Amino acid sequence: MARALVGVLNGAGASAGLLDAMGSGARTVILTEGLSGLPVTERHWQVLDQCRTLHQRGGRIVLLQPAGAGDFDRLSGLGGLSRTLRQEWPGQQIDTWSLPAAAPVDEKAALILRALAAGVQDADLTVDGASVQQIAGAPRLTPSVPSTRNVWFAPGGARGVTSACVMELARRQPGSVFVLVGRSAIAPWPAGIEVTTDTKQLRGALIAAARASGQKPSLPDIDREARILLAGQEIRATLDAITASGAQAVYLQADMSDRNSIVSAVDAITQQYGPITGLVHGAGVLADGLALKKTREDVAHVFGPKVEGLAMLLDVLDPSRLRHIGLFSSASAVFGNTGQSDYAMANAWLGAVARKLAADLPDATVKSFCWGPWAGGMVDSSLAGHFAARGISLIGLKDGSRIFADQILQGDRSEVELLIGDEWAG
Ligand SMILES: NC(=O)c1ccc[n+]([C@@H]2O[C@H](COP(=O)([O-])OP(=O)(O)OC[C@H]3O[C@@H](n4cnc5c(N)ncnc54)[C@H](OP(=O)(O)O)[C@@H]3O)[C@@H](O)[C@H]2O)c1
Repeated sequence: MARALVGVLNGAGASAGLLDAMGSGARTVILTEGLSGLPVTERHWQVLDQCRTLHQRGGRIVLLQPAGAGDFDRLSGLGGLSRTLRQEWPGQQIDTWSLPAAAPVDEKAALILRALAAGVQDADLTVDGASVQQIAGAPRLTPSVPSTRNVWFAPGGARGVTSACVMELARRQPGSVFVLVGRSAIAPWPAGIEVTTDTKQLRGALIAAARASGQKPSLPDIDREARILLAGQEIRATLDAITASGAQAVYLQADMSDRNSIVSAVDAITQQYGPITGLVHGAGVLADGLALKKTREDVAHVFGPKVEGLAMLLDVLDPSRLRHIGLFSSASAVFGNTGQSDYAMANAWLGAVARKLAADLPDATVKSFCWGPWAGGMVDSSLAGHFAARGISLIGLKDGSRIFADQILQGDRSEVELLIGDEWAG
């Protein structure tokens, strides 16, 4: 691809060459790795890694990615990377351009030439005039009556902010089944320990109980036990709240980054309750750190449940039966965020998936929720302080879950990517 592009660009009067041949003379480097056929996680890692090498030599970097690619794992979230790297490496110009996946190389080259001349930043070159992707405006609701009996499948839905959203859905759809998926077990609460959600209090009680039985507990062991117990407690509370709404709640212990786990979970649910008609994808983890320090393992960790998990899930279930799809993305996909190059790419990829699903499934309402920080879930007190210092307010559990349920049940189908929360300084 790179060689073919060089030929066409030179033929059009530009001065282009392959990077090795150009040495340090290149003012703009156009990375074609994002168009390669590598698997989704490896492809994003390769582009990130190449950006780090290019960063040492300075100059402008343009990342190419496909628009309108066929399979989900061919889709791309490099916009999240360029937006993050512009923050981590101020002064270096880094942009992502989407090109029509199936276009011949001379058409791609013509679009690139035009974009170079116009000096566009992140842009979708498939649109006439190189429109910059924008997510804006107050989302609308449609008066349509959503179907009231759904089989919802919610990876990540038993804990964290996704659980608040699922509980609100259950209040509105008491006739539905909610299948929540997570890696954690529902560990039984130990006898003699007061039930609490306070980590510090639980740690103290566990240490006291261990000492009373003559053991010398190690702090890491106590921490681990407390985490396991609190996770189980949180899952139980979610299941109880759903049941109290009159809906049916099921918890499946499964790892969304493991295909066999997903296949067994989907098979079991479909057999017992019928086809899955609602999908809430909230499973996600962080591996924050500056791009120059990122490892392939960090990217794989973040992409595992959020990207690979969703791609596998969409391959395993029958998407044509889906009527409501809600993907938990992040404002970091829209604005980028220092320390979150992998997470921003993964969430930007979710946006591409949402756009494809919305186009493929005319009977479904598809939403990618680009959340700002919530007062809960993965936003611990140190992260909350970090956002407060930047003047970014937190989304309350009540507000966020109301917006979620409104949008996924009654949202305007044409509004696929929603940004919820304050604007971040990019
Ligand atoms: N909180 C925020 O401010 C915020 C902002 C923007 C976007 N988001 C997105 O919202 C979603 C939920 O975030 P959160 O803040 O609620 O985080 P959280 O409290 O850490 O919850 C993450 C959820 O994902 C599940 N999960 C993680 N890896 C999994 C795997 N391999 N297989 C199955 N389940 C897995 C976890 O369950 P187990 O640990 O039991 O597996 C848990 O239920 C994430 O996708 C996140 O990126 C959150």
